[in-house]
Amino acid sequence: MEKFIVKGEVQLSGNVRISGAKNATLPIMAATLLCSGISVIHDVPYLRDIQAMQDILILLGAKIRMQGHTMLIDTSNVSKVEIPEHLMREMRASVFLMGPLLGRFRKVRLSYPGGCAIGPRPINLHIKALEKIGAIVDESFGFIDAEAKELTGGEINFDFPSVGATENAMMAAALARGTTIIRNAAREPEIVDLQAILNKMGAKINGAGTDTIRVDGVARLVPAEHTVMSDRIEAGTFLTAGVMTRGDIVVENVVPEYLFSVTDKLQDIGAKIITGKDYIRIKAGELRGVDIKTLPYPGFPTDLQAPMLSLVTIAKGTSIITETIFENRFKHVDELTRMGAKIKVEGRTAIIRGVAKLTGAIVAAPDLRAGSALVLAALAAEGTSEIEQVYHIERGYESIDKKLQALGANIVKV
Ligand code: UD1
Repeated sequence: MEKFIVKGEVQLSGNVRISGAKNATLPIMAATLLCSGISVIHDVPYLRDIQAMQDILILLGAKIRMQGHTMLIDTSNVSKVEIPEHLMREMRASVFLMGPLLGRFRKVRLSYPGGCAIGPRPINLHIKALEKIGAIVDESFGFIDAEAKELTGGEINFDFPSVGATENAMMAAALARGTTIIRNAAREPEIVDLQAILNKMGAKINGAGTDTIRVDGVARLVPAEHTVMSDRIEAGTFLTAGVMTRGDIVVENVVPEYLFSVTDKLQDIGAKIITGKDYIRIKAGELRGVDIKTLPYPGFPTDLQAPMLSLVTIAKGTSIITETIFENRFKHVDELTRMGAKIKVEGRTAIIRGVAKLTGAIVAAPDLRAGSALVLAALAAEGTSEIEQVYHIERGYESIDKKLQALGANIVKV
């Protein structure tokens, strides 16, 4: 199994280009199933999760070709509506296929999805949304069978603004008869990106980015061409790395507005930030502790909780980080403790007492974002660290080692 070897204490400097967003690409790939023909998606990142989604689409009958970072998906011969269990287990995002398959074929069969081990990730909201627009869902023997003679517009009120359930509802409702209103919808930028491609495909959707989305169903959709938005979580991770190594870096190909909650906190911690139209320059200052609570967008993203926690381990004073979105998302804590961090976890809250320095250690990435937190810690730590289980990190960060090397970091994959 591959691992990263990192020699710490190098201040990062230079420019890094952020890749297309994993969390936008996955639902967009699923959305191409809503029509027959060749869709063209630009700026698709090379990631394990994207490869897994590609494998599923191919199994369903799609033909996929990559030209650099452009993905051509031909859905003309898609006929299967059953997703094999081993592929569902590999990636939770496979649940996105429910909406499109139900929309186009009125039928889908899948097993319960897998994904990061960050706590129970139920799919009740996805199912409830699809039922509201006419699907009959049967859950038995670990499988979910959904069918609809006809999908009809309806009112969906989410108890919680789930990103995936909002996206699934939009995709299925795009081909329903009549109007669907989604209330307490998630407002993440990736949902705006999904709305953009769906509308290019001929859908009539508005309101993405707000808590109420209106979908006027259409009879059919056509293939489209789209460039995926940039990855705000990757951007936030690099910004945090810049501060943590006391560096001075420019993160390019970003929408600064999407990162306000993150840059705000980084400023509170002591970073200096200059924002351009599509870039952010960050310079470290004296680091001081902060309190952070993860929330649905536009609040602080749960996906950046781990990297940020890593950063405050070396900030002066005490920080309190509260995780409200997922249970069990403090798996980086034990590993960071091995590197000299002083952290106490009580339920969903971590209390961090800043130390002057972390020290290199042998650690293992427990999941994707916890893994990136360890990379950051290793970059800042005194001495050499080994980070095992890098495959977790590569689920969500394209060439993270090469991008860090280009910023001067001493990191190699062996
Ligand atoms: C998406 C992101 C993930 C991010 C998360 C929250 C993708 C591919 N993944 O995941 O990186 O961490 O948003 O920003 O876009 N929930 C239910 N029932 C459901 C669905 C969700 O109770 O049917 C709960 C979850 O357990 C969790 C919370 O809602 O506590 C948020 O989940 P959700 O917004 O659905 O996250 P994902 O779409 O899975």
